[in-house]
Amino acid sequence: MNDKQILIIGANGQLGRALQKQYPGAVAVDSNVLDITDRAAVENYHWRGIKIIINAAAYTNVDGAETSDGRVVAWKVNATAASYLSQVAKDNDITLIHISTDYVFDGTNHNHKEDEPYSPLSVYGESKAAGDIAVFLAPKHYILRTSWVIGDGNNFVRTMLGLAQKGINPSVVNDQIGILTFTSELVRTINHLLSNSLPFGTYNATNDGEPASWADIARAIFKIAGFNTAVTDLTTEEYYKGKAGIAPRPLNSVMDLTKLHLTGFKSQDWYNDLESYIKQEVA
Ligand SMILES: NC(=O)c1ccc[n+]([C@@H]2O[C@H](COP(=O)([O-])OP(=O)(O)OC[C@H]3O[C@@H](n4cnc5c(N)ncnc54)[C@H](OP(=O)(O)O)[C@@H]3O)[C@@H](O)[C@H]2O)c1
Repeated sequence: MNDKQILIIGANGQLGRALQKQYPGAVAVDSNVLDITDRAAVENYHWRGIKIIINAAAYTNVDGAETSDGRVVAWKVNATAASYLSQVAKDNDITLIHISTDYVFDGTNHNHKEDEPYSPLSVYGESKAAGDIAVFLAPKHYILRTSWVIGDGNNFVRTMLGLAQKGINPSVVNDQIGILTFTSELVRTINHLLSNSLPFGTYNATNDGEPASWADIARAIFKIAGFNTAVTDLTTEEYYKGKAGIAPRPLNSVMDLTKLHLTGFKSQDWYNDLESYIKQEVA
């Protein structure tokens, strides 16, 4: 695989930044260079020489997507733009890698398999589900379904560290259960699929380890970082009581990794990756 044949879209997001490190020779574009909601810009992009598109772009503001303006942008970026990329991938014999989310499910199942029917609760989840369906139409596609992404950008770990540094003891929800996914792990998974030319299709792609609630994860963050910060457990209902415009969230976000593991991939435990991440953050 030649890096120069890879186009990274959404290059300045959490995943986009990690991808640039893995594939330094790749062409990496942010929305200023290629706005994927601009159909003509996508169609007229210089596709010659590109063999792989990694679409790390998305509208990821889950609550923002519930507003009248945000809903429009979420659908444009996550769904309509995905259809443009799917079409150019098909027309130019390009492999399209696209990232999906646990939010395409309602979270009633405790362990989500790749073929679980869609049941999104929120506008973000609906728009991401529509994006998946558009990407299915590209003959050479990989959809990586992930959850709770942590990398170089705004994320839960950085928020918790910021609160601890200010001496704030946070209240954190204890009934949403999942597994953190570090962008390093997502990049490893993408590289594994590509370098082994694995069959196209959908793969769950998260870290492995013991599922945990956000409250448990907050405690783990404070312990690893050496803070004495206390966490008050709240249910999702209690946390959002009296707050308007909050998107409903799935309670169970754990992905079944069997399909990926059968390809020979060994997942990293989220706790170990959290330790490495915090070491870098507080260094
Ligand atoms: N974050 C999570 O917890 C989570 C969980 C499950 C799945 N995912 C999925 O994982 C993927 C990566 O997420 P992430 O956390 O890395 O996202 P992120 O940090 O929010 O980055 C998203 C990037 O998309 C770009 N973008 C937005 N609109 C665009 C447009 N019209 N054209 C081109 N680029 C555009 C943004 O670039 P500009 O700033 O230049 O606009 C931004 O850099 C996404 O598909 C997301 O849905 C994320």
